[in-house]
Amino acid sequence: MRRIVIDTDPGKDDAVAILLALAAPEELEIVSITSVAGNVPLARTTENALALLELGGRTDVPVFPGCTRPMVRPAVTAEHVHGETGLQGLVLPAAVAAPQSRHAVDHLVELLLREPAGSITLCLLGPATNLAMALVKAPEIAPRIAEIVWMAGARSEGGNVSPAAEYNVYADPEAAAVLLASGVPLTLLPLDLTHQVLMTRDRLLELRAVDTAAARAVCTMFGDADGNPQRERERDGIPLHDPCVIAHLMDPVLFRGRLINVAVETASPLTAGMTVADWFGATDRAPNATWLNEADADRFFALLRERLSRLP
Ligand code: BDR
Ligand code: CA
Repeated sequence: MRRIVIDTDPGKDDAVAILLALAAPEELEIVSITSVAGNVPLARTTENALALLELGGRTDVPVFPGCTRPMVRPAVTAEHVHGETGLQGLVLPAAVAAPQSRHAVDHLVELLLREPAGSITLCLLGPATNLAMALVKAPEIAPRIAEIVWMAGARSEGGNVSPAAEYNVYADPEAAAVLLASGVPLTLLPLDLTHQVLMTRDRLLELRAVDTAAARAVCTMFGDADGNPQRERERDGIPLHDPCVIAHLMDPVLFRGRLINVAVETASPLTAGMTVADWFGATDRAPNATWLNEADADRFFALLRERLSRLP
């Protein structure tokens, strides 16, 4: 059983990740959720996290609001992908539970200093601002983190928010640099991987047969009014980026990759947030991240369907 904190900017694929984690009580204990500004502003990501916990019947999980903007740069939101509310088309009742008053950065520091070293895994589904700020504030937490598992980066196909950069890194490249230099075991799930995990028409139809509120919520966010999957650029479906982080922890044979060196561009305006992944070992820079780039997508969707059928 892994004990996890989910750091997130819901975000429709973040929403699926949260629901999947709620459906994994045998594999994952969700200690807390920390929200961050990203796809939509912080107030919305916090509210969405709370509403999703209510949908999943887990109001016992505390939500700690985090940073309102990246470490250095102004915020970059993505309403064109996730809708004005962040949960595109999904209308959830306003959450009854309130967010915690403690700031996410302070919560992360306190939690990691309090719990046994190596007992907490951090699942990052958005810009890495909260954890980077915690590492800057209290570097002594670094050796106490079991692992960081982050949906971030792009190599072979280029980026999705600029030709060079994936959104979570582009939004806060300085935070990415802090994580990459932290020495903490780090697993990255980049676009190279998540672009293989597509919600296609057939997969959406299969999911529509699952009769739970959680499955219906996912279909609402990823289908159009006629129930067809939305398309993203020239792809046949929508990539389910963030749920891959949770699925990887539930079933480690789903995805494969290798331990390499990854550096991030923070200076050039043209390529800010580009992850320079040394896949072929062209440099002598030491490996600092496991870069996952091969997915068994059918197995992922079988897992997702089965688990969404367990939720309310
Ligand atoms: C990432 O960016 C966000 O829009 C998604 O939620 C995901 O975390 C994909 O690039
Ligand atoms: Ca996200």
